[in-house]
Amino acid sequence: MPHDVAAPRAGETAATPDVPYYLPTGTERALFETAHKNRLPLLLKGPTGCGKTRFVAHMAARLGLPLHTVSCHDDLTAADLTGRYLLKGGETVWVDGPLTRAVREGGICYLDEVVEARKDVTVVLHPLTDDRRLLPLERTGELLEAPDNFMLVVSYNPGYQNVLKSLKPSTRQRFLALDMGYPAPEQETQVVVSETGIETDRAQMLVMVANRIRGLQGVDLEEAVSTRLLVYCATLLQAGRPLNEAVQAAIIEPLSDEADVKQGLFETIDALLG
Ligand SMILES: Nc1ncnc2c1ncn2[C@@H]1O[C@H](COP(=O)(O)OP(=O)(O)OP(=O)(O)O)[C@@H](O)[C@H]1O
Ligand SMILES: [Mg+2]
Repeated sequence: MPHDVAAPRAGETAATPDVPYYLPTGTERALFETAHKNRLPLLLKGPTGCGKTRFVAHMAARLGLPLHTVSCHDDLTAADLTGRYLLKGGETVWVDGPLTRAVREGGICYLDEVVEARKDVTVVLHPLTDDRRLLPLERTGELLEAPDNFMLVVSYNPGYQNVLKSLKPSTRQRFLALDMGYPAPEQETQVVVSETGIETDRAQMLVMVANRIRGLQGVDLEEAVSTRLLVYCATLLQAGRPLNEAVQAAIIEPLSDEADVKQGLFETIDALLG
């Protein structure tokens, strides 16, 4: 059933059976809806575990659109997205890839970690992301025009990718872009509570720990503690695990392998929680 996207939904913070829970941190939902309505592609940037994937799943459900997700990796080629001829029972048959399926059927195609994909992927994305909205399938000779409800959403994490792996300006400038950081403390607390059912003051304590770690200067961490890890930590606490174990398993160990860095994190957290 299509959702009424204009009307505010009741029980905004509660998960509904058909719409995955997502707490907006700003005006990102309106921007997404406007982009979709105007047939513009969207690039989501942000650190790991900040809610990019959840946001896309939430918006697809709100807009009543099918979601085709592709996790990109460094072996991903254009053919993996568009499709290929396969041998089936002695015959060669064309099998659509996920991008082609999304263009034929409509809906949202979400390319997660798009900078990981091989360079030839951008060749496919370019005609699809300018005003032509075309997907040429060289192998079948088809030229598919994206339907009005088709939207391409890509995400990447600008933090740990090296320069070689950033997107070319000619690719980036085909997308509207949204910078998604970690939610502000009050919102992040609400996310942790909603996701795990933990008491508000315990969630607040975890968010305070996270923000202290995020603010540490000169510590050798690739990424700071994510909202995802706070949800994990709260999940352990809700399952009755002791605080020190939860912090160790959900915050310290996932962040680093270096003994001195882990010791530094432990001391920082210990000073906060006592
Ligand atoms: N605004 C939010 N509303 C609801 N849940 C959130 C929000 N932000 C983060 N989360 C929680 O954080 C978890 C991780 O989010 P998600 O998987 O969307 O991160 P991501 O940005 O896609 O990370 P990655 O770059 O590693 O793929 C979610 O499963 C959810 O529990
Ligand atoms: Mg993700």
